[in-house]
Amino acid sequence: MVKILLVGNGAREHMIAEKIVYSTSKPTLFAYMKANNPGIAKLSEQVAIGPYTDLDEIERFATSLGVDFAFIGPEEPLSYGVVDVLERVGIACVGPTKELARLETSKSFTRMLTEKYDIEGSPRFKVFSSDEGILDYLRELGEVVIKADGLAGGKGVKVQGDHFQTLEEGYTYCKQVLSSHPCVVVEEKLIGEEFSLQSFTDGKSLFHCPVVQDHKRAYVGDKGPNTGGMGSYSCSDHLLPFMTQSDLDAAKKITDQMRDALFKETGTLYKGVMYGGFIITKTGVKLIEFNARMGDPEAMNVLSIMETDFVELCQALLSGNLHKVENSFEQRATVCKYAVPLGYPDAPVANEKIFLGEVPTKIKYYYASVDKQEDGVFMTGSRAVAFVGVAESLESAQVLAEDGVCSAQGKIFHREDIGTASLVQRRVDHMNSIRLE
Ligand SMILES: Nc1ncnc2c1ncn2[C@@H]1O[C@H](COP(=O)(O)OP(=O)(O)O)[C@@H](O)[C@H]1O
Ligand SMILES: [Mg+2]
Repeated sequence: MVKILLVGNGAREHMIAEKIVYSTSKPTLFAYMKANNPGIAKLSEQVAIGPYTDLDEIERFATSLGVDFAFIGPEEPLSYGVVDVLERVGIACVGPTKELARLETSKSFTRMLTEKYDIEGSPRFKVFSSDEGILDYLRELGEVVIKADGLAGGKGVKVQGDHFQTLEEGYTYCKQVLSSHPCVVVEEKLIGEEFSLQSFTDGKSLFHCPVVQDHKRAYVGDKGPNTGGMGSYSCSDHLLPFMTQSDLDAAKKITDQMRDALFKETGTLYKGVMYGGFIITKTGVKLIEFNARMGDPEAMNVLSIMETDFVELCQALLSGNLHKVENSFEQRATVCKYAVPLGYPDAPVANEKIFLGEVPTKIKYYYASVDKQEDGVFMTGSRAVAFVGVAESLESAQVLAEDGVCSAQGKIFHREDIGTASLVQRRVDHMNSIRLE
């Protein structure tokens, strides 16, 4: 019987845990989590709770159980090199080594690869390790985006017009980044609609999932501060309403070029997930960033409709046979909506319970930042529970997800507009106006 270790404790990992446990090979699941996710715990044979910095403990747990392989969910343990540690003791991992995880952990590394290996779709950019020349470049680009080099929990990127206005403010932010990071990336601000393409890879070929659109802003109508993602949707035709097949093909090509560049640069095959954040602009599809793991919430959208056996997919990825796996997803729409604590993301209520009453049976839910104690499930300050609706049409999936999230109680809120016809139409209109410019 296959034994699998899952590292991670979010809704993405709860979803992954379900895909593992319900695989036709009926594997045994073990989980290492930094907080007790009750959904993952219920599906696991045994769990260990501890920080992701404790690589020795993760290694000890994995070897004592004799697991066949590990699946690393979040970027945090990847950034510490959990894969290097496990591989050293002979445990294969779905997830890149520390060096390859720079795809996500270093924005300058990835932008540098686009330049060195002539990868399509990169905005104009420059990397600075001192403030020399920054002012000139800010002037040259006009509207810019400034990125701290390194994991910043979604808080390292500042967009001109959104997070700051003037050139002087941008310059001040660059200097602030440089005081705590080795470098800062300054790039051209792109205008368009964003989408996520998640691709499994064995380093040689790619297994693409349907594209998804996430919603970063906290409030209805794309207002308010940026979050980890309030929810997301995907469509039954595996495209998005504002997107063409050639947009999708362009994103696949960029992912493939990056996969190839990673191997040429490091001599090591990337085994795991490459999750590209793309934006469709007037001049075509551009690359915003790559992440080195599945998206949260986007994992919920694609895994809910994945027909390919998940464990078989992981095993093929690890043995370098990904090209042999049939790519199969249901032709259904999905909507994911997060219940988050009041005040999230800036001043979330702390130590409050969330109550899941009667969640309608057709709706799936996945625990995220919660901690199960004897007297209930407590929210820990970030996104609490994800609700997922799957249906023939986007509108029906939206209604299911909305019913699900409304069945939860506590000091929580959510975005009612994710997946609704009116919001989707706004995206389509926005894209049309850009294409027609
Ligand atoms: N070059 C760019 N042009 C316009 N918007 C951008 C650009 N780069 C990033 N953004 C915006 O900032 C968000 C966060 O940037 P991203 O590079 O994805 O960093 P992270 O997810 O690590 O915070 C993106 O989703 C996008 O909305
Ligand atoms: Mg991003």
